[in-house]
Amino acid sequence: MIIKWRDDYSCYDPIIDAQHSKMIDMINEMNEIAKLVEDGVDSYDRIVEIFNGLKDYAVYHFGHEEKMFEEHGYDSFNTKIQILEHKSFFHKVSAINLYELDESQQEAVNGILDFLSKWLDHHILHIDKKFGEFLRDKNE
Ligand SMILES: [Fe+2]
Repeated sequence: MIIKWRDDYSCYDPIIDAQHSKMIDMINEMNEIAKLVEDGVDSYDRIVEIFNGLKDYAVYHFGHEEKMFEEHGYDSFNTKIQILEHKSFFHKVSAINLYELDESQQEAVNGILDFLSKWLDHHILHIDKKFGEFLRDKNE
């Protein structure tokens, strides 16, 4: 399922929003590949490439967010929750076995997509949104 940007994804910061939007694009790209897999096209290399690209981008994005928490004096409790959430993302993506992907591409790619899309939705709407509201209130 293609994820579409929704207004309520906004975290009231143009850079964070642009980064989330790029992650949505990457997940959607993976979705396009999943359709090829369904048609029987071997897409192992493309899946690994997008998956690794998304992991690298997440490192950059989390780093950016963590720098912002510090710069804007976000409270330590919420900062801790955010950092735990970032760590948990890496824990989960590291547990994804890419050998399995080679065995059964369709099942594996659907599992990855399901995880990534649910994760991003939660990350934006329940975790970053809170920081966004903090930024918005601070700027008022
Ligand atoms: Fe984020």
